[in-house]
Amino acid sequence: MPSRPTIPIIDQRNQLPHAEPVSPGRDLTDRHGRALRDLRISITDRCNFRCIYCMPKGVFGKDYPFLKRKELLNFEEITRLARIFSEHGVRKLRITGGEPLLRRGVEHLIAALAKLDGLELTLTTNGVLLPRMAERLRDAGLNRITVSLDALDEATFRRMNDVDFPVADVLSGIEAAERAGFGQIKVNMVVKRGVNDHAILDLARHFRGSGHIVRYIEYMDVGSSNGWCMDEVLPSRAVVERISAEFPLEAAEANYPGEVAQRWRYADGQGEIGVISSVTQAFCATCTRLRLSTEGKLYTCLFAQQGHDLRGLLRGGADDERLRAAIGAVWHQRDDRYSEIRTAQTAAARKIEMSYIGG
Ligand code: GTP
Ligand code: 5AD
Ligand code: SF4
Ligand code: SF4
Repeated sequence: MPSRPTIPIIDQRNQLPHAEPVSPGRDLTDRHGRALRDLRISITDRCNFRCIYCMPKGVFGKDYPFLKRKELLNFEEITRLARIFSEHGVRKLRITGGEPLLRRGVEHLIAALAKLDGLELTLTTNGVLLPRMAERLRDAGLNRITVSLDALDEATFRRMNDVDFPVADVLSGIEAAERAGFGQIKVNMVVKRGVNDHAILDLARHFRGSGHIVRYIEYMDVGSSNGWCMDEVLPSRAVVERISAEFPLEAAEANYPGEVAQRWRYADGQGEIGVISSVTQAFCATCTRLRLSTEGKLYTCLFAQQGHDLRGLLRGGADDERLRAAIGAVWHQRDDRYSEIRTAQTAAARKIEMSYIGG
């Protein structure tokens, strides 16, 4: 088996900043005055899909050196860290992957996290395991769910996931989530110009009036394996224009400061859509997100080139105070604003894969 960095994952440096004591509290800010509010936790680097924009088969084929079990943070470690993060002001946890529902016993993790005070618990999935998992997740205390779905026609959907999963599996997953009591499900579609952009209206038509919210995401240059180029990005502006031509849309206020998606409401009252425009309208100025990778490294940006190792501290016997100081120091020194400074050069640079640090 090849050693891990067959594809460019740069995290060799990996050391934590010198950790001055940073007191827990709501006033923790980074170098641009941004607060820490969201933690995205990747619980597996594996996935049963091979989406062409995320885990292209040519790179993430059978021999890809996925992490071994002992390398992953266990549920106790994740829960302990989540509690410490919440003391630093984190209010929302998003469980991601890879495909998080592939991690055995994920409902036990959700149940443990749900016992922590004042945290909203959300999860992003490709949906195909929801028919058997949705109820368990709801019972365990998961508050919200986001499902990825890149097309409604079979040919395009299979082309996007590249492993022949049928659309019906994801639609069944969404129905199972509804039955389990999840309302207002968010449906994420990554738009790749010339590949699935014809599906924009299909999804709008299908989910209008359902109470769910489709969010159209600009294809991003995350990772180094998807061969991203600007020509394949369809600006969100065009998405809004295309939908509006059939179903007039009006801009809606953000639900909370720093919301990633811009909201647009159907003028006829049939619900709303969102657009996520990380490429054409960067939102770094209000970015309150931190990412914890599958093996316990902290990434201060989706496009980071290195992480800060918390697992070493955890397994080396660090007490809560030490962990709190380390996390505080990482946020305090955070300077990231990648999407605001993206150029052709930065896009070509080697970056961590999204399946590893969480979507
Ligand atoms: P809710 O509003 O709580 O539903 O969450 P959200 O808007 O953060 O949505 P979600 O976590 O589903 O994110 C949707 C997509 O937006 C992700 O899969 C990414 O493609 C993109 N995204 C999320 N956070 C960031 C970020 O910090 N930077 C960039 N560039 N893209 C992001
Ligand atoms: N561009 C935009 N979004 C991406 N995701 C993964 N790769 C990309 C990319 N290259 C996001 C999608 C997907 C989630 C799991 O990760 O939102 O739904
Ligand atoms: Fe898997 Fe999600 Fe990446 Fe697709 S986008 S390969 S479903 S982790
Ligand atoms: Fe935040 Fe980095 Fe995304 Fe900007 S590019 S919004 S700093 S994660």
